Amino acid sequence: MKKTIAVIGADGQLGTDLLAALEDASDQLVVPLTISDMNVCDFEQTRSTLMVNSPDIVINTAAFHRVDECETRSEDAFLTNAAAVHNLARVCKDMGSTLVHFSTDYVFDGAPDRALPFSEDDRPDPKSVYAISKLAGEYAVRTAWERHFVVRTCGLYGRAGAYQSNASRSFVETMLGLARSGKPLKVVNDQRLTPTATVDLAAKLVELIGTSAYGLYHITNTGSCTWYEFAVELFRLAGVKPDLQAVTSAQWNSPAKRPAYSVLRHDALRHAGLAPLRSWQEALASYIEGRQVDV
Ligand SMILES: NC(=O)c1ccc[n+]([C@@H]2O[C@H](COP(=O)([O-])OP(=O)(O)OC[C@H]3O[C@@H](n4cnc5c(N)ncnc54)[C@H](OP(=O)(O)O)[C@@H]3O)[C@@H](O)[C@H]2O)c1
Repeated sequence: MKKTIAVIGADGQLGTDLLAALEDASDQLVVPLTISDMNVCDFEQTRSTLMVNSPDIVINTAAFHRVDECETRSEDAFLTNAAAVHNLARVCKDMGSTLVHFSTDYVFDGAPDRALPFSEDDRPDPKSVYAISKLAGEYAVRTAWERHFVVRTCGLYGRAGAYQSNASRSFVETMLGLARSGKPLKVVNDQRLTPTATVDLAAKLVELIGTSAYGLYHITNTGSCTWYEFAVELFRLAGVKPDLQAVTSAQWNSPAKRPAYSVLRHDALRHAGLAPLRSWQEALASYIEGRQVDV
């Protein structure tokens, strides 16, 4: 029998690539839910919409993730990233459905000199409102309903990101847009991460939900770079030469504190018998090659 899978945030970066990956798997009926179909902050609407569709699996990609804005809108951040997630976990428990939820590398706060990626067993140390609200969301799922996959990921970019508002657009699309404007660009060179293509994350997620190895996972592309190195590589691949300057986090002085090092290890994936994702450079090269928008 076909499994029914509801995807919340279906028109977001990850949601769009998840829909494509799930639709490739013919034994699934996919129910795409955008914010106009169902707002996760409306608990009753969420319960009734999900109950009507009675999905076997609910995948939640919705989040309030404009990191700096979360600092001044903490109630909204906690509502979307924690309380609504708790409600989802309870609804899933009542329906007997598996819940997939996404979290962030920002739950860690690696020191600048750290060189060892964080495993799922490492103790989180979130430093921003966004990161604290996302960690609260993780705990809300893990304590409310055991049949879950909580997936921490990092530095997402995907094809839907090209069409999002300036405030929500991915780093890749923001950089390419700014380069087009011809203005000088400043990018921080003291925060290390792993850029991750949503198309790769979505494909791995489809493999993961085919197992019953519930739990906490780190899923990112492999390797690492600073945001500045990420920009250098994407401009090289796109064949554009903007006036690009490396700056420190102190010089950038953003409202929210971000980790200097938040590279993730993939131990849980390995234990589940699943292969790691390709390198961030290969994934970025595919993205730039496949990108339809002129730069
Ligand atoms: N982006 C990153 O670099 C990054 C890094 C680490 C972890 N993550 C996590 O990965 C997940 C997916 O991120 P993404 O980049 O795919 O985000 P995205 O492109 O912004 O997609 C999120 C989707 O959720 C929708 N949404 C927002 N609030 C909602 C609500 N209250 N009810 C229902 N839908 C709502 C959004 O709709 P609107 O656009 O109409 O608001 C959008 O379609 C999130 O959990 C995020 O925290 C992201």
